[in-house]
Amino acid sequence: MIPLWASHAQLALAESNCPVPDGDGAKLAYALGRAQQKEMFMKIQKSLKVDEIDVSDPMFWARPLEEREGAFAVLRAENPIPFVREREIPDVPIPPGPGYWALTRHADILETSRRPEIYCSGKGATSIADLPPEFNEFFGGMINMDDPRHGHQRRIVSRGFTPRALAKLEADVSRRADDIIDNVIERGECDFVSDIAAPLPLGIICDMMGIPESQRKMVFEKTNIILGLGDPDFGEGPAGLIALALGAGSELAALMNEMAELRRKSPGDDLTSSLINADLDEGAMTGSELASFFVLLVVAGNETTRNAISHGMKALTDYPEERRKWATDFEATASTAVEEIIRWASPVIHMRRTCTRHTTLGGQEMKAGDKVVLFYSSANRDEKVFTDPHRFDVTRSPNDHVGFGGPGPHFCLGANLARREIRVMFDRILHRLPDLEITGPPAHLQSNFINGIKRMPCAFTPGKPKTQ
Ligand code: HEM
Repeated sequence: MIPLWASHAQLALAESNCPVPDGDGAKLAYALGRAQQKEMFMKIQKSLKVDEIDVSDPMFWARPLEEREGAFAVLRAENPIPFVREREIPDVPIPPGPGYWALTRHADILETSRRPEIYCSGKGATSIADLPPEFNEFFGGMINMDDPRHGHQRRIVSRGFTPRALAKLEADVSRRADDIIDNVIERGECDFVSDIAAPLPLGIICDMMGIPESQRKMVFEKTNIILGLGDPDFGEGPAGLIALALGAGSELAALMNEMAELRRKSPGDDLTSSLINADLDEGAMTGSELASFFVLLVVAGNETTRNAISHGMKALTDYPEERRKWATDFEATASTAVEEIIRWASPVIHMRRTCTRHTTLGGQEMKAGDKVVLFYSSANRDEKVFTDPHRFDVTRSPNDHVGFGGPGPHFCLGANLARREIRVMFDRILHRLPDLEITGPPAHLQSNFINGIKRMPCAFTPGKPKTQ
């Protein structure tokens, strides 16, 4: 995604798959490698010295995860707030910015999240590059706003995420998760990402908003265009991709405008109806605010949850003892396991803030206008907060991860929904496909923003659909 949840470097990064052979050979090599894997931990590699680490270099994000984790461990210990220069993005008419402070420690990320009056989101939270304000507004909505506008919008949309509203969605989550398993169960193998992890989050967002079945294919296609930006699978240069994203965004906006019109005349039992027909003193949304909010939900709630589920499955395959613990007592372990999956996956690698005035953070002086980038993925491995941070532990407690952002006004609005979706999906996998295993190397999205898995083969003993 370029103009939405993107950063300067992400544009340049585009995407690459793991440099591994395809086909049965790769699967076999992968299986053999795994069989030999006895470690309980990810073995990080500190192959880069502190002054060789440049997190704005696209090549840094092409390095194996173990090396990147090692580099962040070195930064946390030796230079926890480096100043990073920004790079030019080929073919994109945005000049490189002045650089940014990269926050790698948990404590500094907590501090910036808690103090929005000093570290604001209004200049852009989802892009390190300074994008035109209309881009931030349209694609990011309230995630790129400060108070009072942010508070006002958040109060309006929060009504879709109350415990009551989520309880109403629970039946949809269960039904959709069962349908997903039904669709693959007879095959014995499938692509874990597109067949199992991806359909649930988008389906639920459409259910929430009351998008009619007839429009879902269109929503799915346009969303994929927006989410897939930066991915050469789409075969366009960055400038062409921006045009594509804007086109896809305006088609989604047109759909929401149409829906707003319809629901104004005849309200239904969905979030769209309650957002546009709210009491005046609570505040109602205009058609274009609704469109922006929908795009934000689709962008914020979709790929994040999908990647958490994919990384979770990979981790359960890599660490069978942890899987055994969870499968043995699903209910007792589910809450800690879900939190650990989010910490482990850190689906959102970073968000940005901008200093509103001169300040000092973690001993580092910063001036008004300086950008700070919060590397959640690094904070989630901070040795000062997590015992054995490179161990995947489904019973980890406490687990003060910042996978959903730090404490503050922008803390993920969909956190409880995401937790629910992940829990239900693993409930179905561990009960209905109990021997499902990842059978080949994942194709990673090469991005400094989204910790994404694009494809990942899996296999299981075939069974019968529930609906038969
Ligand atoms: C595992 C899944 C998810 C992860 C890791 C995640 C992560 C995040 C993070 C890190 C932020 C903080 C932004 C900041 O501080 O600047 C955020 C905000 C947000 N998330 Fe999530 N998210 C997930 C799922 C969802 C879902 C399912 C939805 C809704 C359907 C959602 C909706 C939002 C919204 C609307 C915001 C903006 C909140 C605001 O600015 O007030 N997220 N998310």
